Amino acid sequence: MPSVDPRHPNLRVFDHALIQHKLTRLRDASTPSPEFRALLNQIAGLMAFELTRNFPTRPRTVQTPMETCEGRALAQPITLAPILRAGLGMTDGILRVLPEARVGHIGIQRDERSHQPVNYYTRFPVDVADGPVLVVDPMLATGGSADHAIQHLKRLGCRDLQMMCLVAAPEGVQRLLQAHPEVPVFAAALDRQLDEHAFIRPGLGDAGDRIFGTVES
Ligand code: PRP
Repeated sequence: MPSVDPRHPNLRVFDHALIQHKLTRLRDASTPSPEFRALLNQIAGLMAFELTRNFPTRPRTVQTPMETCEGRALAQPITLAPILRAGLGMTDGILRVLPEARVGHIGIQRDERSHQPVNYYTRFPVDVADGPVLVVDPMLATGGSADHAIQHLKRLGCRDLQMMCLVAAPEGVQRLLQAHPEVPVFAAALDRQLDEHAFIRPGLGDAGDRIFGTVES
């Protein structure tokens, strides 16, 4: 089960041995893009498996080859909301364990100087508010991008929101606690701090660049 830190009541850190093993490979600067992409998707799938443990289900009757059987089915439509670009790096891994989910997109770029989020694209299913929404981004740094995405989803009527990231900075977790105390934050690690450029330390570099093999231009 994810661990709870009393300083961050909204945060759950997945301390599973497999997740921590894969996260350490991700942090390693010598891990190339193909392996980085694969590991990130594997962790996202493992986290999604645990995170969806208590999603609501309803009874469903099926006919097995032998007889009628009472089973359960997910009760509500589930939407993933990856924050572009880096959130896309976790989406396939989640869809592998949750193929029923729809995928809405929100494009947010953090301004390099001000560190403020700039929203350049949004597209969500019309009934996005009818079920849980999982906001996905590997990096929670200042929390500006996640805060912006959650505000947008709340304006669309969403009430059942959860944030899934890979590494979180204490500053970002606290920002979400202040702005959205009811939104749980799930992470593979709570890192030490942000540096003067608002990069996560120790972190893993720029996740978007490492996923897509780009460099800052
Ligand atoms: C990075 C990262 C998060 C955001 C985190 O994205 O992927 O989306 O910054 O920072 P914050 O918590 O301070 O808002 P970036 O702006 O580099 O865009 P990219 O995903 O397209 O690389």
